[in-house]
Amino acid sequence: MRVLVVGGSGGIGAALVRCYLDHPQVVEVVATWHDKPGDFSHSKLLWRRLDVTREDQIAALADGVPVLGRLINCVGVLHGAGKGPEKTVKSLDPAFFLQAMTVNTLPTLLLAKYFGEALKREQSVFAALSARVGSIGENNLGGWYSYRASKAALNMALKTLSREWRVKVPRCCVAALHPGTTDTPLSQPFQGNVTPDRLFTPERTARQLLAIIEGLNPELSGRFWSWDGAELPW
Ligand SMILES: NC(=O)c1ccc[n+]([C@@H]2O[C@H](COP(=O)([O-])OP(=O)(O)OC[C@H]3O[C@@H](n4cnc5c(N)ncnc54)[C@H](OP(=O)(O)O)[C@@H]3O)[C@@H](O)[C@H]2O)c1
Repeated sequence: MRVLVVGGSGGIGAALVRCYLDHPQVVEVVATWHDKPGDFSHSKLLWRRLDVTREDQIAALADGVPVLGRLINCVGVLHGAGKGPEKTVKSLDPAFFLQAMTVNTLPTLLLAKYFGEALKREQSVFAALSARVGSIGENNLGGWYSYRASKAALNMALKTLSREWRVKVPRCCVAALHPGTTDTPLSQPFQGNVTPDRLFTPERTARQLLAIIEGLNPELSGRFWSWDGAELPW
């Protein structure tokens, strides 16, 4: 099985790459990085540079990968360049909102556009890391407008894709995954209220996600999974 981890240089992405390298059925892991090159190597591992917001780069990557068993998009942004999740609508910044959509939402659809053919050839999984705060049904706290909206839109994109691929890529399971709060640069400024037993290491998160992904099949396509295997409301 060949696996593509998009955002393989990130906290969760890198841990997932290592887990798949240890998986006996995996013959090759292609992992992408953007700003920070991957800092480990392995005989089964190929690093590729990718700006996931660039359609031409996604198309070029897909040209070199004719058959794929797993595509997992681990790219995401929550804060950066002095901007972070909004507490009130008055602090909404249009550029930050559009950046969240550009990085957290659109790339998953572009990946689907170019990798659908490769995912057709064997039983496969197409998954993206979403976030529980993207659940509309569970939004009891408010705030975090840009991030929440970008993940809710990602969820809708994945659900819609699952409907189309039920016919066009019938052996692929499309999944949205909530990794749980994980100790990475993305969550670092927001870990204050998280109890230690609910702040996972990237290695633990990767093992939990791998167990979910490897338990999926096409019948389960179009669902939103939490790190513990429970289904989340959209
Ligand atoms: N950590 C958590 O507690 C948590 C909770 C819920 C959901 N999530 C979701 O889980 C996913 C992974 O998060 P993480 O915690 O692992 O974050 P992270 O350590 O900050 O990693 C983010 C990744 O996104 C990549 N990236 C950012 N912009 C990119 C672009 N334009 N093109 C290509 N790659 C780009 C980064 O690449 P470079 O480093 O090479 O730039 C890096 O690989 C995200 O979707 C996040 O929303 C995380």
